[in-house]
Amino acid sequence: MKAVVYEGPRKVGVVTVPDARLERHTDVLVRVTAANICGSDLHMYEGRTDFEPGRILGHENLGEVVEVGAAVDRVRVGDMVCMPFNVSCGFCANCENGLTAFCLTTNPEPGRAGAAYGYAGMGPYQGGQAELLRVPYGDFNCLVLPEDARERQNDYVMLADVWPTGWHATELARVQPGDTVVIYGAGPVGLMAAYSALLRNASGVMVIDHHPDRLAKAEEIGAIAIDDSVSSPVEQVLELTEGLGADRGCECVGFQAHDAEGSEHPSMTLNNLVKSVKFTGCIAVVGLFVPTDPIGGDALYRRGAVAIDYGTFWSKGQTMSTGQCNVKNYNRQLCALIHEVGARPSWIVSHDLDLDDAPEAYARFDARDRGWTKVVLHPGKPG
Ligand SMILES: NC(=O)c1ccc[n+]([C@@H]2O[C@H](COP(=O)([O-])OP(=O)(O)OC[C@H]3O[C@@H](n4cnc5c(N)ncnc54)[C@H](O)[C@@H]3O)[C@@H](O)[C@H]2O)c1
Ligand SMILES: [Zn+2]
Ligand SMILES: [Zn+2]
Repeated sequence: MKAVVYEGPRKVGVVTVPDARLERHTDVLVRVTAANICGSDLHMYEGRTDFEPGRILGHENLGEVVEVGAAVDRVRVGDMVCMPFNVSCGFCANCENGLTAFCLTTNPEPGRAGAAYGYAGMGPYQGGQAELLRVPYGDFNCLVLPEDARERQNDYVMLADVWPTGWHATELARVQPGDTVVIYGAGPVGLMAAYSALLRNASGVMVIDHHPDRLAKAEEIGAIAIDDSVSSPVEQVLELTEGLGADRGCECVGFQAHDAEGSEHPSMTLNNLVKSVKFTGCIAVVGLFVPTDPIGGDALYRRGAVAIDYGTFWSKGQTMSTGQCNVKNYNRQLCALIHEVGARPSWIVSHDLDLDDAPEAYARFDARDRGWTKVVLHPGKPG
C-alpha cells in the first residue's frame, strides 16, 4: 500500500510499504478515505520528537471497513467509521472512567499511558495517512457514522481529533453560557475551541494569533480576532473585558509558541493566559507540551520545564487543566450535531489533496503559508 512516512526533519515520503492487516481477532481493517494533517504531526515533521524514520504518520482518520477480526461483533464490513486519535482498550481503569487518552494497556512503553496512531511516544501503531489502517479493539475504537458519511466525510473526519480537542478545551476551562473566553492559537484546534465555545453560548470569544488568514476564519464564525503582532495580546484582552480578563482561557498552541518574529518561548502562552484570564478563572491547556525537547532553544524546556508566573497564577486563584483529549467522551455527541443539526466543522478545511501531495502539503502547512488552515488527504475514495 502507499503511505506517508517520516524520513527525517522536514522530510516525508510517499512510499510503498507492506499492507496493514488484521493482527488480532479484535482488529478492524479500514480503507482510509480521509486523513488529516494535524499541528501535532508538525512537531514530529520538524524533528522535535523521537518519532522513528520509516513510520507512517496520521492520527485523524476516517474510512470504510474492509475486514473485521473474528472477535469483532458490532462493526461490519462496509461501515463508514471515524477513529479517535487515541488507541484505547476500553477495559482498563482509565478507559472505564472515560480517560481513553490515558489508556493503561495500549502503550507498551513503561511509565507511559495513552496511545495513538502514528505518533511519537504513543505506542507502535502505524498512522492512517495510508491506503489501509489497522484499528486495534475495533468495536471500541470505531465510531460508526450515519448514512451521509460518504458525502460529508470532511465534517465527520474532524471527529477524530480537532473538534473533540477544541471541545475538550472548553470543557477543561469549564465554559458556561454567558462566559467570555480567550483562546491562544487560531490553528485548527484553536478554531475548533472557538467554534465549541460559541456552541456552548459563550458571550464573547477572543482568538489570538498573528496569521491574518487564520484570524479571518475565527471571524467567520463570530469570534473576535486579536493579532498579537500588532500589540500585546494581554492588553487587548484586558481592554475588551473592562480590565478584568476573560472568564475562561484555552491554550491551543503548545510548546512551540513563538512571538510574531518566530522566536520560540514555551512559557509564552501560559503566562499570557495567567495575565489575560480573570481572578478564579479556569485555563485549559490542550496545546502539546513534551517531557523533553533535546534540540529546542530554551535551556529550561530542554528538560520539559517552563517558568510560569506562579505567584500571579496562585494569587488569582486560577485553575489549570491539561492533557490529551479523551476523544470518545465527545465524538458521538458531536457526530449527532453534524448529522442532526447541521454543524459544519469542515469550514476550517482549506485543501483536499491526494496522498501523493503529502510532501508539499506538509511543507506548506508547516510554513503556515497563507490559506493553508487544514489539509485533508484522500488516500482512497468512498465506495
Ligand atoms: N490535547 C490534545 O489532545 C491535542 C490534540 C490535537 C492537537 N494538539 C496540539 O494542539 C496544538 C495546536 O494544534 P493545531 O493543529 O491547531 O496546530 P497549528 O500549529 O496549526 O496552530 C497553532 C497556531 O498557534 C499560533 N501561535 C504560535 N505562537 C502563538 C502565540 N504566542 N500566541 C498565539 N498564537 C500563537 C500559530 O501561529 C498557529 O496558527 C498543537 O500543539 C498540537 O500538537 C493537542
Ligand atoms: Zn491531531
Ligand atoms: Zn484502556
